[in-house]
Amino acid sequence: MCGIVGYIGTKQAAPLIVQGLKRLEYRGYDSAGVCLLADGGIRIEKKAGRVMDLERAVDMDQLHGTVGVGHTRWATHGVPNDANAHPHTDQSGTIALVHNGIIENYLTIKKKLLNAGYTFRSDTDSEVLAVFIGMLYETLQDLEQAVRTALAEVEGTFGIVVISTHDPDMIIAARRGSPLILGIGNGEYLVASDAAAVIAHTRQVVYLNENEMAILRRDGFQTKTIANIDTHSVVEEIAFELEQIEKGGFEHFMLKEIYEQPITFRDGFRGRLQTEEGTVKLGGLATVREKLQSAKRIIITACGTSWHAALVGEYLIEALARVPVEVEYASEFRYRNPIISSDDVVIAISQSGETADTLAAIREAKLKGATVIGMVNVVGSTIARETDAGVYLHAGPEIGVASTKAFTSQLCVLTQFALYMGRMRGLSAEEGKRIAQELERIPEYISMILERADDVKAIAHAYAHASNFLYLGRGYNFPAALEGALKLKEISYIHAEGYPAAEMKHGPIALIDENMPVVFIAPHDEIYDKIVSNIEEVRARNGRVIAIADDEDTYIENVANHVLRVPRTLPILTPILASIPLQLLAYYIAVERGCNVDMPRNLAKSVTVE
Ligand code: G6P
Repeated sequence: MCGIVGYIGTKQAAPLIVQGLKRLEYRGYDSAGVCLLADGGIRIEKKAGRVMDLERAVDMDQLHGTVGVGHTRWATHGVPNDANAHPHTDQSGTIALVHNGIIENYLTIKKKLLNAGYTFRSDTDSEVLAVFIGMLYETLQDLEQAVRTALAEVEGTFGIVVISTHDPDMIIAARRGSPLILGIGNGEYLVASDAAAVIAHTRQVVYLNENEMAILRRDGFQTKTIANIDTHSVVEEIAFELEQIEKGGFEHFMLKEIYEQPITFRDGFRGRLQTEEGTVKLGGLATVREKLQSAKRIIITACGTSWHAALVGEYLIEALARVPVEVEYASEFRYRNPIISSDDVVIAISQSGETADTLAAIREAKLKGATVIGMVNVVGSTIARETDAGVYLHAGPEIGVASTKAFTSQLCVLTQFALYMGRMRGLSAEEGKRIAQELERIPEYISMILERADDVKAIAHAYAHASNFLYLGRGYNFPAALEGALKLKEISYIHAEGYPAAEMKHGPIALIDENMPVVFIAPHDEIYDKIVSNIEEVRARNGRVIAIADDEDTYIENVANHVLRVPRTLPILTPILASIPLQLLAYYIAVERGCNVDMPRNLAKSVTVE
């Protein structure tokens, strides 16, 4: 969701804040704004559109001040226009605030403020909070206390940063449900929604905890709870390098991230796979090993792409460890009073580690006594910190809104988890070794597929004008079909659906005609003949078939219009390889259609509101 950057120090804040906002733009990009304190006054510049549009409209070098805040917005309340962009001010125009999250009781508070004669310039819940803090300040005459008092009344989620002419040498930050981190520099401090905005200035960070606030001054900072109890903050080091969040010569972050996969996949098993023993060492699970050994059931919860990875995980864990697995959308799980016992293990999968629904789902699971494990990419994120144990994905920062490398890293970690559990529960060393050996070959296979990107490009060119796409797969590749369809719709805006191939007959077949491209994932496994029959059914209705098949398949050309080849591997690993041409297909189609690949309309990378 929204991106926040605040700065207090000795440098000019505006260019530094704008640079930070650009690095956070993947979080939200429908409007942007900055606010600077200087010479006893406050100056705000904000605009609908990208950070680039704000920069074009305002000369940042003319904005003076060494204290300031900035924001990139992903609209929740009110359309993206200049007035609804952040920062928002209180009625007196002396207190400015940026906000990430949703104030759920904003209407009640707004009504009170309207009755008291206050007026509003925007449709946002965030402005209500700014005006409310301003009203409280009038009586309290203490900004920190006004913020604390306001936040005590607020329901919902927030990461906020507040600055004011009343105390121009101070920044106040507070969080509940939306992440905020402090960057600790030399005589300067930053506050941001994630480390990407901070790393150019310092690697030393403090992750604010839930219901915590920070008071930043040039000579130091203090953390406390919103209820005003001092807290102890731990300074940690950012775990990635600046180059990892830059494009490095690629046209888009998404393409760069697709091409990083031979490395990121290897990073996911490096130091973990014990090939000779046919097992896996997962240090982060040592404390819950016994729980896993005796678990009666595993529930995996996630959203979006991570939910697709979870579905593959279900097949993997049931096949290798013979434990029943259920997969749940986190947004459904959290609200349906799920039946959970202390014999259950709940796994949360999340790239960002901040998804509001996934976070709420694990809190619910913990409350009900389950052991909760995280499979998370972002180190130090809220989900990573709130789970009992976990396995990091080690995919490095993922900036492209459409998830690619995080997905294959999730499959890498899930395969190892299934192997780890399987070996505890009867899977033979020999079978384990066979899987581990093949997993080690995957990075090389991914490189081979990437070398064939031009084949995908040609197909993308031929079908870029289609209005609908169908993606079909069976078994392990049913979730891969869902993910392929999601990738396409996210970034090209073509309507695409994924289905288990055999289900096609129960509905989607009605859509098939000569204008309908159908992507089949057809690895040479035990149900290959079934999928070939499904392909025939599509061809019989003049549908156009793009098949993903393995290098050794000599039959597929007889039935498919186009074939994209991947190396042959074990059936359980086929969704990993199938994902690569599907990611490339979505990417090249979106580029052909002139879409903004890295920042697709209406989407955000990290969904911190429910
Ligand atoms: C958003 C992103 C998706 C992501 C989903 C879940 O919708 O655009 O790419 O899969 O959130 O996010 P998570 O960070 O929990 O994996």
